Amino acid sequence: RQPVDSPLYPLLAAASDYYRQALKSHPARKAAVEYLKGRGLSGVIARDFGLGFAPPGWDNLLKHLGGDALQQKAMIDAGLLIENADNGKRYDRFRDRVMFPIRDSRGRVIAFGGRVLGDDKPKYLNSPETPVFHKGQELYGLFEARQSNRNLDEIMVVEGYMDVIALAQQGLRNAVATLGTATSEEHLKRLFRLVPSVLFCFDGDSAGRKAAWRALEATLPSLQDGRRARFLFLPEGEDPDSLVRAEGTDAFRARINQQAQPLADYFFQQLSEEADPRSLEGKAHLATLAAPLIEKIPGTNLRTLMRQRLAELTGLTGEALQTMAAPVTDAN
Ligand code: GTP
Ligand code: MN
Ligand code: MN
Ligand code: MN
Ligand code: MN
Repeated sequence: RQPVDSPLYPLLAAASDYYRQALKSHPARKAAVEYLKGRGLSGVIARDFGLGFAPPGWDNLLKHLGGDALQQKAMIDAGLLIENADNGKRYDRFRDRVMFPIRDSRGRVIAFGGRVLGDDKPKYLNSPETPVFHKGQELYGLFEARQSNRNLDEIMVVEGYMDVIALAQQGLRNAVATLGTATSEEHLKRLFRLVPSVLFCFDGDSAGRKAAWRALEATLPSLQDGRRARFLFLPEGEDPDSLVRAEGTDAFRARINQQAQPLADYFFQQLSEEADPRSLEGKAHLATLAAPLIEKIPGTNLRTLMRQRLAELTGLTGEALQTMAAPVTDAN
């Protein structure tokens, strides 16, 4: 997945050290410290997640690490410096931001996310794709979650850095986030190698609900019998960070226990909203939508049960549904 060795690793580690140190001792650190405190984070969590601070200014990291031309070139490759295409000037990518180091499964820093302290845009800035960082494959917080417990039985997938960290702060140390990308089949394969159960908990907004359906689609090919996925939908306007801080750990846990929907329930509920099974036309449409998705499930028992459920909802026989879902081979 990642190069075994790369000169970018020590460079990224040194940058992470610099940002962490800046959060402790840079003259401008106060605003960042206040910001993190204001979001309810303690020093312990900041340490566990290696949080840092990129001070304001164009060349703090450049001056700290960028000795010679070769070193600066490597810093550009690592996504730490940006080179102006017109005049060749080099400057720090991350400025005046709270820094979240992104670690690979071995704990090596491979990239950063940086958040502005206020309402400026862009709110988050991520490292670009580099030889050691492939956004679509990584899960923020996975290393930290595994550090806290080698025998996790469920991993929660959330949208943001702050969701992962706020949940950890509240004692829920099993959350990971995709990095501004949709949950992929790749992500799910990785997660199910570690745990038998995945809980999706996205923001209570339309983007979050879209993300949930995409996550469901990405999960289907991983659903062997014995594995499960569930979905927790949050009240409108809330995300895991805001909600867990508002209601506390016990209430949030209770919410998970009482409200997390098994994938199959969410599946039929969502599709029944798109195709109303009370009319024959709706039944026909529902079958068209659901059958091909059900066939993606490798778990024989779950696949059979979901076919049966679809048969009950539509009145179509299991055979009719299976025939319909089979790939069309002869073009017409
Ligand atoms: P907070 O305001 O810090 O609580 O952020 P959030 O995590 O709640 O942000 P939001 O729900 O808007 O977005 C979820 C995730 O999408 C973030 O954690 C980021 O990973 C990503 N994201 C949000 N805004 C931006 C942006 O402006 N640029 C990029 N590249 N990613 C973003
Ligand atoms: Mn690679
Ligand atoms: Mn959101
Ligand atoms: Mn948030
Ligand atoms: Mn959010």
